[in-house]
Amino acid sequence: MSKIKEVRIGVVGVGGMGGSHARAILQGNVPNARLAAICDINPAVLDRFDNSMLKFADSREMIRSGEVDAVVVATPHYAHTTIGIDTFNNGLHLLLEKPISVHKADCERLFAAYDKIEGKKPLFSVMFNLRTTPIYQKLRALVQDGHLGKITRVNWIITAWFRTQHYYDNGDWRATWSGEGGGVLLNQCPHNLDLLQWITGMPVRVRAFCSFGKYHDIEVEDDVTAYFEYDNGATGVFIATTGEAPGTDRLEITGECGKAVLEHGKLTFIRNESSMLEYSKTSKSGFARPEVWNVEIPVSHSGGQHTEILSNFANAIVNGTPLIADGRDGIRSVELANAMILSTLQGKTIELPLNSATYERALKKLIRESKYTKKGVTAAAPVDLSSTFNVPKAK
Ligand SMILES: NC(=O)c1ccc[n+]([C@@H]2O[C@H](COP(=O)([O-])OP(=O)(O)OC[C@H]3O[C@@H](n4cnc5c(N)ncnc54)[C@H](O)[C@@H]3O)[C@@H](O)[C@H]2O)c1
Repeated sequence: MSKIKEVRIGVVGVGGMGGSHARAILQGNVPNARLAAICDINPAVLDRFDNSMLKFADSREMIRSGEVDAVVVATPHYAHTTIGIDTFNNGLHLLLEKPISVHKADCERLFAAYDKIEGKKPLFSVMFNLRTTPIYQKLRALVQDGHLGKITRVNWIITAWFRTQHYYDNGDWRATWSGEGGGVLLNQCPHNLDLLQWITGMPVRVRAFCSFGKYHDIEVEDDVTAYFEYDNGATGVFIATTGEAPGTDRLEITGECGKAVLEHGKLTFIRNESSMLEYSKTSKSGFARPEVWNVEIPVSHSGGQHTEILSNFANAIVNGTPLIADGRDGIRSVELANAMILSTLQGKTIELPLNSATYERALKKLIRESKYTKKGVTAAAPVDLSSTFNVPKAK
């Protein structure tokens, strides 16, 4: 692959999110990139763009056209795998929307296609835009630089993803096993699950209780309570729903040296003067506790989000800048989501790494046995996505 000065990007799926990516590039907000083509199977969606644009109805034609160096995929999730594999088979760079695939076995198929590429590999990234949020970066540094010491507990209540029935009726692929392959865990929570593993690493086992269609007329999960165990003995609880308002977005990480709390756009670190584990062993008083200092961590702004990931992708191709979100990282949030659904279906704890074939079989069974029919589907309309991302605003 020869060095290029400007990446010619083709966006596949230019509905809500992909339309926003295409416009960001068109408007010149993504340095080192030019929108060379767009692709959508829905002609009405293509019509939203000026006719001077090079347009394709079939991603295979766009990928083989010689007009694009890199492909951004923002179709419904199942097609991420097939279009991603086709992109790699043709040696092009790939930025996939989250989740990179619906299930772990598809992630593995995607990686196998990538690994098969001979010579210099194209770049592979994933749209984990919340990684650009300074408050999460600071929390990650706090944990990874050891300020909290040994982690003992991780709790994330993320019930601020409220969605109405109208949302689920918007687009026939949403919230069905065959069209989306999951609900809140596959659509909204890939961001949170990625951040969780990015900050604290992967748990080793998962027990979860998902409710399917608890708040909406859908067949997939819209309410989740999960319990995690980590290899150092730490435990975690992850609670998510699209059915509650007002919701909560509170991430709390406790370690022997204190507690970090991220809520309402503020990151607070309550620091123990000494290790609570040591203190507990050595104190001569039954009710004493370590002295604490309240540390408020300054955060400057909310990060570049989607545009920053797009810019980083183009910059990585042109200048070799490290990727913010390597595509391979995308498997971990998928694995966690799959493990939670499988745990619910089997009524037991799931050991990680998840057996990808077992989960694929379980998902195929859900698809085969589905009796759900969508009512009142409205065509996907251009939507203002800006208020829907749960990006913590620094206060
Ligand atoms: N990173 C984020 O913050 C974020 C936010 C919203 C959506 N997303 C992701 O973006 C993806 C799309 O979601 P959306 O809300 O934009 O959906 P959408 O329904 O608004 O848009 C999807 C578009 O893809 C088109 N499409 C479907 N199959 C195709 C194919 N095989 N080839 C070409 N085009 C095809 C549809 O016609 C539609 O226009 C999902 O995977 C979702 O998880 C990410």
